[in-house]
Amino acid sequence: MCGIFGMIGGGAVSNTLRALKYLEYRGYDSAGIAVKGDGGLKIYKTEGRIQNLVDIVPQGLQGGTAIGHTRWATHGAVCAENAHPFYSPDRNFAVVHNGIIENYLTLKEELISQGAEFSSATDSETVAHLLMREYNGDVLEAVQKTAKQLSGSFAIVIATTYDQRLFAVKRRSPLVVGIGNGGVYLCSDIRCVSRWAEQVAVTPDNTIVVTGSDGVYFYDYEGNAVQVDFFDAEEVEEMEQVKGEFMIKEIYEIPERIRLAKREYMRSGLQLNAETVRKFKRIYLIGCGTAYNSGLQVAAVARKLLDIDVLPVIASEFIYDNYPVDSKTLAFFISQSGETADTIRACEKVKEQGGCTYAVTNTKSSQLAYACDRTADISAGGEFAVASTKAYNCQLITLLLLMLDVAKIRGTLDVELYDRVVAAVDELPEAIDNILNDSYDIARLADEVKDCSAVFFIGRTTDYPTAAEGSLKLKEISYIHSEAYPAGELKHGTLALMEEGVGVVAIATDGDLKEKMALSIKEVVARGAKVICVSPYKFENAIPLAIPAVDKLLIGVVAVVPLQLLAYYTAKRLGRDVDKPRNLAKSVTVE
Ligand code: M6R
Repeated sequence: MCGIFGMIGGGAVSNTLRALKYLEYRGYDSAGIAVKGDGGLKIYKTEGRIQNLVDIVPQGLQGGTAIGHTRWATHGAVCAENAHPFYSPDRNFAVVHNGIIENYLTLKEELISQGAEFSSATDSETVAHLLMREYNGDVLEAVQKTAKQLSGSFAIVIATTYDQRLFAVKRRSPLVVGIGNGGVYLCSDIRCVSRWAEQVAVTPDNTIVVTGSDGVYFYDYEGNAVQVDFFDAEEVEEMEQVKGEFMIKEIYEIPERIRLAKREYMRSGLQLNAETVRKFKRIYLIGCGTAYNSGLQVAAVARKLLDIDVLPVIASEFIYDNYPVDSKTLAFFISQSGETADTIRACEKVKEQGGCTYAVTNTKSSQLAYACDRTADISAGGEFAVASTKAYNCQLITLLLLMLDVAKIRGTLDVELYDRVVAAVDELPEAIDNILNDSYDIARLADEVKDCSAVFFIGRTTDYPTAAEGSLKLKEISYIHSEAYPAGELKHGTLALMEEGVGVVAIATDGDLKEKMALSIKEVVARGAKVICVSPYKFENAIPLAIPAVDKLLIGVVAVVPLQLLAYYTAKRLGRDVDKPRNLAKSVTVE
């Protein structure tokens, strides 16, 4: 949610624009850049995508210092006036901000009473005004005084005419610092900064960063030095080389990523000793959106393996509800980005109450990973399409392996079955390759789905989470109304919506429940709905979307793939912007 970047060094303007393209997945409502040159700070900003910004920045514009922003609107409409950066009224400061200044209204009223005039409806502009008010010959002091007045979440990068250096403040929004290749960099995303930086550091909360040609310094709000370690940046793939949409590329990576997720888990293991594992009385699987759906899926499997409660919970609900937590609680926090505000808040709550916290994430250096006692890396590789795909499959692999280990230690799963399931993970890539190789069938089915007035996804037990994920994928990128239900629940209300023009996608992977699903299909077909059935079995009255049979405990990893493809092709047929659906952003860093 909003991407920020700042750099001092050669090519600052072109590199900032390149970085913003990379960060566009974080928000694409508007974008802007401030460049420091001989004439002071100059801001260019515009509504819409980064390309619109590139189009208005003068060709060949030079400057050794630049800061940039790509926005997902929280306060104020989507328009150029609300785009970042913001000048202070005297134009001696320019700021970009990711997060929410929760007390901005109080601060704004105070500033207005002192004569300030605002040019935007954002919370972020307040910061530029405060910096001007607090400046008294020392920029660091002005930043400290400003930071102390802010509440909420923020990563703010500040350029000023008073000082050659860039300043930044960080609390609860990500801020990575990089050095190398003749430059210093401040950025929301570690992968983005790693294309230039040789060394990177993750800024701790409540820290001020000062970067300049003489190095990088970290301070607390009182001006005391803070020790932060740099580590080697990892190699990253060049985004510019990706042809077509990220979503389809990321779906096609699933087989290989599953192999890597298993390899990584086998390398790192459970990271909890047997005595600790035996003492747990409950397990939570906490996340949002797709990450929550992976928790839902794994909980359905784990209930078959374990002797304790395994509860999937939506992070934003967990924060305000009264789920029991004590030292016998193990909570997994599932998040591709490791930045999702709801998930991080839920993690803080479990920590406060003495539970064991375990991040399952694609971003080892994320805030979530830092907040948790343990971290499992799902090894999905960079995921840029807003619709999460390969991360879901890798979350399932990692979490299922974690659950198998917990069950083995607790003695609720015999070693033979454990070995069989762990070995069966190796069969998944080929099974998924078979689906991907036949994706033209799914593309054809998209022609049917695109004209549906609504699409309902149904499944029972471990197939219900797959239905939930298939439905989320379809609605978020095609904008077709869609819901998921446990199949048996339809007759308790939703059946009233079945009529001509409605689509139903039934997921039926469990041979023992075949007859039940056949009945549900008959019920909806009788009311005029068109049914597609994702199954290794054949069903009357349903268009088959065949999937290979794999181990029962792992089938969810495979069954979701045709649904990811169906959502993709349907959205394409409708001419949607598949990678950047309306109103959404990849990382949701606000509660
Ligand atoms: O980065 P996270 O895994 O924490 O993100 C959680 C959700 O915001 C995310 O999965 C969202 O639901 C996706 N857009 C779904 O495709």
